[in-house]
Amino acid sequence: MSESPTLVTARHFAYVAERTRGDDAFLADLKHAAREAGIPPIWIAPEQASFLQILLAASGAREVVEVGTLAGYAAIQMARALPRDGRVRTIEVSAKHARFARTWIARSDVADKVEVIEGRGVDVLPSIADASVDAVFVDADKTSYQSYLAESVRIVRQGGLVLVDNAFAFGQLFDAHPSDREAPAVQAFNEVMARETRLQSVILPLGDGLWVGVKL
Ligand code: DHB
Ligand code: MG
Repeated sequence: MSESPTLVTARHFAYVAERTRGDDAFLADLKHAAREAGIPPIWIAPEQASFLQILLAASGAREVVEVGTLAGYAAIQMARALPRDGRVRTIEVSAKHARFARTWIARSDVADKVEVIEGRGVDVLPSIADASVDAVFVDADKTSYQSYLAESVRIVRQGGLVLVDNAFAFGQLFDAHPSDREAPAVQAFNEVMARETRLQSVILPLGDGLWVGVKL
């Protein structure tokens, strides 16, 4: 067998996506309603959602914190992987997005497992106790990612997960002059995450790149 890795191409991404269960009717309706409401159509890919569910279920997670609710898609997906007494607390800075997410979470199959906390991540995370959660999923404003990482490492228990979206910086990771103003923040964050000795981490090429870290 060759020791050289397979270069992952767009065709591989499509191949992976085609072999991932897609959204159910409820999540498809949520996405449609979000677009209608003028909410930015930003959500993790179904293959990322599936992988997050696998990680949460395999690790026996109960307490999950998300930074960046947006429409509530990932919060609902993650909650579906938790036991009956599991909980996702999801933090959202936009009142409009929080209202939309609450409405759709209330209609969902995991209404009693998801709590939307309206506020800035940097204000809400400090209210969460040290080593009290099983997993954190960071998917919010990229310029605050280094602050979110510091708080995530603090609130996650040993053996818990620190998961971070957009490691590939919206496809602009290798651009010297990226058009997205948040891309440099992702580039800088990736260097910090790679050197964070309290985590064992790896970037998975799912969606826009998913950091998966476990607290040592
Ligand atoms: C953007 C943000 C995200 O978290 C994402 O997954 C994709 C795009 C954005 O701000 O454009
Ligand atoms: Mg994202």
